[in-house]
Formats: sequence, C-alpha cells, structure tokens
Amino acid sequence: MHHIANLSAFEILDSRGRPTVEARCTLAGGASARAQVPSGASTGRAEALELRDTDAARYGGRGCQQAVANIEGPIAAAVRDSGWTQQSLDAALIELDGTSNKSNLGGNAILSVSIAFARACALERTMPLYLYFGELIGVQPTRLPRLTVNLFSGGKHAGGQVPLQDVLVVPAAATTVAAGLEHVVATYDAAAELIGDRYGVRRLTADEGGLAPPFPSVAAMFDDAVASIESAGLTPGTDMALAVDVAASHFFDGTSYHFGDKPSSSAELIETLADLATRYPIVSLEDGLAEDDWTHWPSLRSRLAPRSLTLGDDLLCTNPERITRAIETRACDALLLKVNQIGTLSEAATALRLAREAGWRVTISARSGETEDDWLADLAVGWSGDQIKVGSINQSERLAKYNRLLAIERETGWPVVAWPN
Ligand code: PGA
Ligand code: ZN
Repeated sequence: MHHIANLSAFEILDSRGRPTVEARCTLAGGASARAQVPSGASTGRAEALELRDTDAARYGGRGCQQAVANIEGPIAAAVRDSGWTQQSLDAALIELDGTSNKSNLGGNAILSVSIAFARACALERTMPLYLYFGELIGVQPTRLPRLTVNLFSGGKHAGGQVPLQDVLVVPAAATTVAAGLEHVVATYDAAAELIGDRYGVRRLTADEGGLAPPFPSVAAMFDDAVASIESAGLTPGTDMALAVDVAASHFFDGTSYHFGDKPSSSAELIETLADLATRYPIVSLEDGLAEDDWTHWPSLRSRLAPRSLTLGDDLLCTNPERITRAIETRACDALLLKVNQIGTLSEAATALRLAREAGWRVTISARSGETEDDWLADLAVGWSGDQIKVGSINQSERLAKYNRLLAIERETGWPVVAWPN
C-alpha cells in the first residue's frame, strides 16, 4: 500500500505543439513523481477518450484544462489520504469515471495519474521503474526489446503523399540496443542522402521523425528502404529487416481500400500485402486491414505467417475485449500495446496477459504525439516487450526513450531479445 498525500497537474505541450497533461503524485512518505502522457493522430475508434476542452479559441479546441481540473478536483478528492496498490488505484479511477471509454474524466487525466503513482511507488521503494512494472505483471525481466524504428512515413503522419503510414527498420543482427541504434542511424543517414539525390528534398520529416519525401508509390518506399540499408553497408533481411505500419483504417472508405491505382477489396489488398512481404524482408506487418474488417483479418494472418507477424494496433486498441475476439477468430498473432489506448496500467497489463497466453508477440509502442517523458522504455523492458516502437532517431521526444533504453542496458547488461528468429 502506498498512501497518496497529493495529486497535482498542469497542461503541457506535446511534440506536435498540442496540449497534453503532466500529473504529479506525492506520497505521504515524501516520494513525489510526475508523468506526461502522449497523444495519437492515427487513432483507433475504440480508444479511450482524450478529454479536450471545447473552447475553440484555445489551441483549436485541443486544450486539456478540463482534464487537469479533473485530476486536481474529483480524482484527488477520491484518492487523497488513502493507501493504494496500483491495481486498487486503477480500479478506483475506472469506477470514478464510470464510462466504458473514460470519457467522463478523460483517458489522459486517468493515465497520467496511473503512471505518476507507479513512478512514485518505485521511488518510495528505491527500485528502478522497469522492475516495478515487471512486478505488476509478476515477471522479473531478463532481456531488452528489439528496436523497430521509423525510416519512411506517409499516411496520416506525413500529409498523405502515399497511403502507407510507416516503413520501419529492425536491426535484426544487433545483440545490444547500442549496436542496434548504430545500425539504424547509419541506415537513416544513408536514406536521407538517397532521398536527397532521388527526390531533391533534404530531411523533410513526418510526426515521428520518419523521412517523408514525395514517394511516387508504395513500392518506391520499400525499394528506397532496401537501397538505404545496402548503402549503409548492411545486408537487408540479415542485418536489417523491415516492419510496416499499413494503418489501413485510414484509407478504407467503408467499402474499398484506396491503396493503389484503383480501389481494392479486402481480398485484393491482402494479396498486395502478401506480395510485398515476399518481395521485401518484412518481419512484421501492422494494421494491414481496417479496424472493423474482422472477417478478413484471419486470411491476412494466414497469408503472412510464418514470414511476417500480423500486428494489431487500431484493430485491438489495447482493449482486452477486442484482443479476446482476435484470439478467438485468429485475426492476428501480435499485439501493439499503447497504454493510452486503454487508459490505465492495470487494463494494459490484462491486454498483455491475454496476448501472452495466446502465444502472441508484443510490441510496446509510443504515440505520434509524444513528450520528453521516458516511462515507455521502462515499460517495454519491465513487460518484456519483444519489440519497442517509438519513432525515429532525430527528435528528442523519441530519443528520450532510446537514451533511457541505453541507460537500462548499461545498468542491467541484459541482452536484446533474439527476434526475428
Ligand atoms: P498514432 O499511431 O498516430 O495514433 O500514435 C501511430 C501508429 O499507428 O502506430
Ligand atoms: Zn499503427
């Protein structure tokens, strides 16, 4: 039990210059910690609600003053001067909110309190945050996640010049985070030079730092990625694999997918993606179909396996009910876990447990609107993520997480998970 003495909060700005929330939790023993929460752009329909002020005159209606007021008002009143575990606090926050999507108090208000409390507890117990997170799920971590790093972007993260959202590089041969980052930076630099030559643009980047030149086609994104790996002196598929976030919900009109020259059916898109996965060293393919195209996800998974993981982001929304449905229907075989999609650590832990029990791989992911807070790196280690996805290597809100991973690597000496294998 940890006694909460006080909660406070204020509005801060995320990496897109949009408001988000920082909360501080002070325990009766004096330990005090803060947490900042991120915000998505390529969001799933089933996500917890980020509470935004309706005042269009402030930040285009994106203010978080009400979320802040909810922390300092009803949430503080309900939890102050009492003892909590992470589970009991999260349960109390869920009950106080009383809605299925946290629309009353706001997912942003609730999650910032959940994580600030976690940090304060770890501090009180003088334990690293990653071990506290591990303890929450009853696991002693022993390894570090493999990096999946945005190289090229399109879709909602880059003004839609191509429909595909992200091509990521996966340093498959590196056995440490440090070596992985070295390979990724070499590839990124080679890619920046290549697109300068090929498209006449230098380092135009998308929300998560991926390079975003005017690719003429999706195939060009992959050809350029492979060429960049080679020009960095690495072997595609062996030293450096690829991962993809198709984010298909965002080019689906309810009937057809707008991915190529003409609209495609689900079956046609599956064939296009399966063909890409054969031609390029793609080890993980995220949101290959729209979030509610449940009937076609199982055939996507069976077309991709065992070459590539079928990873669900918008499809699953880190939501235990949706994950259960995906397990039952064999819709995918890997979970993209974003804590703010569901809103508390405890519910995200349930999502993780379900995925693990089904034998799935797990990617722990940041959002496209991030902050300089680095708790996600501790979470990815503590929850033994197979992969971590936090964006590219050229913006400090992303590097905060990579640099924290480097610190954890130095502290623990744990190996990077052998993946893909
Ligand atoms: P976000 O999504 O923009 O909602 O953070 C990133 C992703 O699709 O993985
Ligand atoms: Zn995604």
